[in-house]
Amino acid sequence: MSKLGIFDLSVRYGKVPAINDLSLQVEEGERVFISGPNGAGKSSLLNAISGAVPTSHGRIELDGDMLTGRAPEAIARLGLSMVPEGREIFGSLTVEENLRVGTGLRRDAEAVDSDMEDVFEAFPILRERRSAAAGALSGGQQQMLAIGRALMTNPKLMMVDEPSLGLAPKIVDQVYETLCQLQEERSLTLIIVEQSSLRAARVGGRMILMRGGSVVGEGNAADMVDRDALAQAYFGNPKCKEVNS
Ligand SMILES: Nc1ncnc2c1ncn2[C@@H]1O[C@H](COP(=O)(O)OP(=O)(O)OP(=O)(O)O)[C@@H](O)[C@H]1O
Ligand SMILES: [Mg+2]
Repeated sequence: MSKLGIFDLSVRYGKVPAINDLSLQVEEGERVFISGPNGAGKSSLLNAISGAVPTSHGRIELDGDMLTGRAPEAIARLGLSMVPEGREIFGSLTVEENLRVGTGLRRDAEAVDSDMEDVFEAFPILRERRSAAAGALSGGQQQMLAIGRALMTNPKLMMVDEPSLGLAPKIVDQVYETLCQLQEERSLTLIIVEQSSLRAARVGGRMILMRGGSVVGEGNAADMVDRDALAQAYFGNPKCKEVNS
């Protein structure tokens, strides 16, 4: 059984189709990149898996348990968490308060504290700045905070939507180093939306290429980076032939 199974999934916003009959399996411990142009449906796919947007057709299973129709909190309790596109940090709350968001319903205060300790161990800078307003952190630190918050529910499968967004390449390197280290230490399964196929190839893993709400290509990220399919998916068929060919 796959860690995550997606079968004939469709998502619509009113009349706007975002995902069309998409099927995908992710195995335990895998690192999967989802790439594709703006509007391809990458975030919609992640949001449907996490329960943030309703599905209009198909089903999603985690360890064989049906996720479709469950509330996001219930899905998080099954061991799935997400770092959303744009991070969604509360700038006026402190770092610590941001980490506690979403743990309010848990009665096991000790377990929450111990999860927070784990996050601080993974990200010492967050411990240092635990009382600072999250809005005062740098972009890279805010991304660490968003990842730290997702770790607070002790996920087995973590989805990260565009961790590189708006960050300098050196900081992106650090974010990926951290994600890879966390994956190893916590035996995480990772699904990462990443626009840069070169970045995905460097980090390594399976790449799923989406366009128009469907999967249009799939393979080892390093093998796919030079493939014509990638250029085609991004730019479509060239309108003009090269003059000198
Ligand atoms: N809340 C919404 N209401 C209506 N349409 C939406 C909504 N969110 C997304 N869409 C539409 O659904 C389609 C898929 O969007 P989605 O955000 O999933 O793509 P994406 O691949 O994540 O794009 P990006 O690279 O820009 O983040 C697009 O046509 C988009 O305009
Ligand atoms: Mg998106």
